[in-house]
Formats: sequence, structure tokens, C-alpha cells
Amino acid sequence: MKYRNFPMVPRVVFGHGSFLQLGEILMPKRKSSEAPFIFFIDDVFEGQPLITEVPLLFNDQIIFISSEEEPKTAQVDVLVAKIKESFTEMPSGIVGIGGGTLLDVAKAVAIMLTNPGSAAEYQGWDLVKKPAIYHVGIPTISGTGAEVSRTTVLMGPEKKLGINSDHTPFDQVLLDPKLTHGVPKEQWFYTGMDCYIHCIESLNGTYLNAFSQSYGEKALDLCHEVYLGDISKEESRDKLMMASWHGGMSIAYSQVGIAHAMSYGLSYLLGVKHGIGNCLVFQYLEEFYPEGVKVFKQMQEKHQIKLPTGICAGLSEEQFDIMIQVSFGLVPLWENALGDNWKEIMTYDRLLQLFKKI
Ligand SMILES: [Fe+2]
Repeated sequence: MKYRNFPMVPRVVFGHGSFLQLGEILMPKRKSSEAPFIFFIDDVFEGQPLITEVPLLFNDQIIFISSEEEPKTAQVDVLVAKIKESFTEMPSGIVGIGGGTLLDVAKAVAIMLTNPGSAAEYQGWDLVKKPAIYHVGIPTISGTGAEVSRTTVLMGPEKKLGINSDHTPFDQVLLDPKLTHGVPKEQWFYTGMDCYIHCIESLNGTYLNAFSQSYGEKALDLCHEVYLGDISKEESRDKLMMASWHGGMSIAYSQVGIAHAMSYGLSYLLGVKHGIGNCLVFQYLEEFYPEGVKVFKQMQEKHQIKLPTGICAGLSEEQFDIMIQVSFGLVPLWENALGDNWKEIMTYDRLLQLFKKI
């Protein structure tokens, strides 16, 4: 048995209003007045008070990015080319401010500034050769675990797959629950359920070990408190932020499972966003995760979340086939969920029937 030697985020700040410390944190990382910090910020914050608190100096730049769609390899390539054209020196660092999309774009650009070619060439496991430039992640919505993960999930020309590498994790994360104030209810639910599903898939997987279990159980408890408990909004924001962190840590040393494998298929073919895609799938997985799905439905009920229906209605056989191929391509997820003989358990037809329910 060869055990994996994982990198972790080496520095993290947690606290209400900690965003105001960002300038102080970045200062020692500034290489020169010509080497800017590039801030990728979710465009929902354009014109919002948060922008005035971004610690811009010298030729630092803010680039607003839409999180309407999942991040793409081509988008990363364009951003990298733009940065290289605009500045004579390599930036001092990249700061991603937003949800999973923004965090993933920040990680990918930081990697691609030092590695040649297109981001698509690095989708997979351990293909990145050179360390990324300094990069900082600041989540403004909780649940994806992108702030701790060693991957950056991108939609490529051929596949939706992460750049999984030791160079991917952030050098610094800033967790300020205050930044999650304005998140709309649906998004809060779908993204939080990403975390909840990380826990269920990790805790019920064959890859489970004491490391993953300890984080997964804590994250699951926190999700129960946030989505079923009776706690204040402020406490809930703090707890969901820590649930996301622990859920991410849990899957770092195990793996996700069926909902994620299928959600990747949905997202690849139809552009369904990760959080809602997971929910759309997970509601039909009671045979695999009975307790998890039961509690999920209680949470959905409590917050009166109605999931869209008929997403896969009217798809052609070819289209179902694409989703199934993308989904089956994620072998470690299936192995974790169902064990070595997963192919016998999850046949093509069984998966097709599941997709048809959505
Ligand atoms: Fe996820």
C-alpha cells in the first residue's frame, strides 16, 4: 500500500471582518511595484461596497468574472494570455474572491502562468510540473470545499475534469463569514448541499479512513445544525463556512461518489451548475444513500426548495450516451461509491434509468 502525501493550505485566517486584513497579508508577498496582484472577483460584486475594500496598490488589477457558467479551460487560457500581455513582470499573485467558480479560475490561472500550453493539457492527476504563482482564495459562499481542495474543476473541450496536483491548493485562504451575507436562498441551499453530499459520499464510500471520517462527521454535524437546527443566521454562516472546509478535507483523503459522477455528466452536456446538479441527482439515490437522501429531503422541505423537473426530458439517445460516458469516465468516484466491481452494480442501463428520472 502506497499512501498519498497530501499538500494542505498552509495559511488560513477565519473571522468576521477578516477581509480587512487582506492588504496586510498580501504586503510581504509583493515582489515589486511592477508585479501586481490580480483579483478575480465574482461580477455580482461589481459596484458593491466589497470592491472598495479590496486592497489595491500600484498596478494591481481587478478582473470581474461571471459565475453563471462553470469555469472553462479556454477561459483560463484567455485570462493567462491577457495577464501576460498586460504586464511586463509576472504578477506577485492571484486572489480569487467568490464561489467555487472564482476559486477554481484563480487556482487554474496561477498554475497556467508558470506552466506552458493550454489548461486542457493538465486536466487529470499530477500533470502539473512547475509550482503555481502565489494564490489566495476567499470564498463568498460556502459549501464547495474549493478553498481547501487540491483540484480545480474545469470544463474542457473533451471533458469536465479537475487539474489535480500538489501545486493546485491555495497558499493562503481567508474565511470571512461576513462575505456570505448577500447569498440568495436557493444558491445558499444548493451550494451548502454540495458540502452535505461531500460528507455523505465520503462517509459511505469504500475509500473511507479515519482521516476522512473525522472531518466528514464534523462537517455532517455542522450541516445538520445549519439546515435542520434552530440557530441564528450569524452562527449559521460561521458554521457553514467551517462545514465546507471540513467537507473538503474529508474528500481530500477519500473521494466523492455517485451524485458527483452523474452531476459531472449533467454539467458537461447541459451546463447545469455543480451545486444544483448534485441535488438533482442526489434526490434519486435513495438505494445507495438511504439515510442521506432521507435527511436531504427533510432539509429541502424545511427550506421549501423546489428542484426543477424535466431536465433530461426530450434528450436523445446520443445525448444520454454522452452523459453516461462522462460519468463512467470518473472511475475513482465509482470505485469509492460501489467498490471494485462497480461496473457490475452500476450497469449502463441502470445509469440511463437514473438520468431519465431527472
Ligand atoms: Fe462537489
